[in-house]
Amino acid sequence: MKTILLLGASFFLTISLCSCSNNKESKVQDITFPQGFVWGTATSAYQVEGAYQEDGKGASVWDTYTNQYKLAGGETGNVAIDQYHRYKQDVALLKDMGIQSYRFSIAWTRILPEGTGKVNQAGIDYYLRLVDELLKAGIEPAITLYHWDLPQALADRGGWRNRESVKWFTDYAEIVFKAIGDRVKTWITFNEPFIDRMMIGSFLRSRLDPTIEPISNPFAIPGALIAQQAIETHHWILAHAKAIKIYRSLGLSGKIGMTLSISPVYPETDSEADRNAARVEDGLHNRWFLHPVLKGAYPEDIRALYLKHTGIGIQEGDMEVIKKNRVDFLGVNYYSPTRVKANSDSKRFGIEILPNSDERPAFNGEVYPEGLYDLLVRIDTEYDHPVIYITENGAGFGSEDDSLVDGCVHDMLRQDYLKRHFAEAHRAIQAGVKLQRYYVWSCFDNFEWVFGYKNRFGLIHVNFENQERIWKDSAFDFQSCIKNNGFDQ
Ligand code: FCB
Repeated sequence: MKTILLLGASFFLTISLCSCSNNKESKVQDITFPQGFVWGTATSAYQVEGAYQEDGKGASVWDTYTNQYKLAGGETGNVAIDQYHRYKQDVALLKDMGIQSYRFSIAWTRILPEGTGKVNQAGIDYYLRLVDELLKAGIEPAITLYHWDLPQALADRGGWRNRESVKWFTDYAEIVFKAIGDRVKTWITFNEPFIDRMMIGSFLRSRLDPTIEPISNPFAIPGALIAQQAIETHHWILAHAKAIKIYRSLGLSGKIGMTLSISPVYPETDSEADRNAARVEDGLHNRWFLHPVLKGAYPEDIRALYLKHTGIGIQEGDMEVIKKNRVDFLGVNYYSPTRVKANSDSKRFGIEILPNSDERPAFNGEVYPEGLYDLLVRIDTEYDHPVIYITENGAGFGSEDDSLVDGCVHDMLRQDYLKRHFAEAHRAIQAGVKLQRYYVWSCFDNFEWVFGYKNRFGLIHVNFENQERIWKDSAFDFQSCIKNNGFDQ
């Protein structure tokens, strides 16, 4: 094993490179991506930055969930992988891997500690430093404005349920566009509204509100609770459209989009009841967001379903703004499909989500690469051929696949997972899908929300005690894939 010591401003960082990588030069390639295809990796602020109270940063809801409610069993993102201090070394690692674009998110509370009002210049300066370091390394920054870390001060004012949230967000977005918009050309307004508002949001409400029955299974959230979150997702969609409008009115020349978690839904059988259950589940998870973002209108069936339960908060003029300000690209996060059957006893609109039957279950559900092909072709066909970036895809399988042995991590399952998904993405491109980028989640092991540090998704292993970074075999694979713009199957 080779060990390289990098001397940072105030600390030593040890980076170890495995001599046991399986990096190989390929001659004849089975799979070659189109010229100009962009390979990247993704992270989010809360999961990597740490420095949770530094340089004027305010508290976000995730600071509260982890420190106060102990949602991750007492683990927190207070330090995470300390990217706030180690960004130079991390950018150097990305450069070594050949990464062409780095997707990261901005912590709203670094820019506006109270969510609105006084701007914290030190927060802006941090992101300017990070962006400049990336540009210097030839890596294109791709910024997500919001990856779940709402300022606590705004949560105290009703959070996303309060219609004012639309203005809070667009004010914040405008500040960031003006401060960094000259040098960043790829923008994502929001990350995964379904997972954040309908899954995590419902789960939290059930934990904090004694009148709501506690949710033990995130896949069996009652329909009524999901419907009650629709108003919050409408505020996201509206804020997203208004932020696009602001971005374009500032005359900035980059591309702006939104990232959705897309899960293709398959019925257990071909019966009408099962097919109907699949249609509704697809409506909740996918169409409720794809339709407004790409077509400018909500899907009628789900709109009617939500209206039967609760209001959605649509006001006059909202849909016009949403229709007029559509994305330059759609960001797709894909991890797994959803399999369903009809079950009249289920409180989730009669839908039962079937358990994952994989022998070696991945953290984020069933491994089904073909689902990526299906969803890409489906979006292309049904939504008028949008430009698509895969903004997240990746996996973790637990300690057997992720253990450090003699300085190496032989993460064969992750290697296999990624190759098979890349191959399906390639197949979709050949079928005519305008897929232009692929961001792997994640370059580094990091803080995985309610699972804390247990669930590792990184290409690079992180020792959370001393912050050592070690390339896993999948990192060497990815390096070779980027270098060759493809790979042998
Ligand atoms: C996605 C999230 C991302 C990460 C991966 C594993 O749903 O967007 O932050 O947690 O899952």
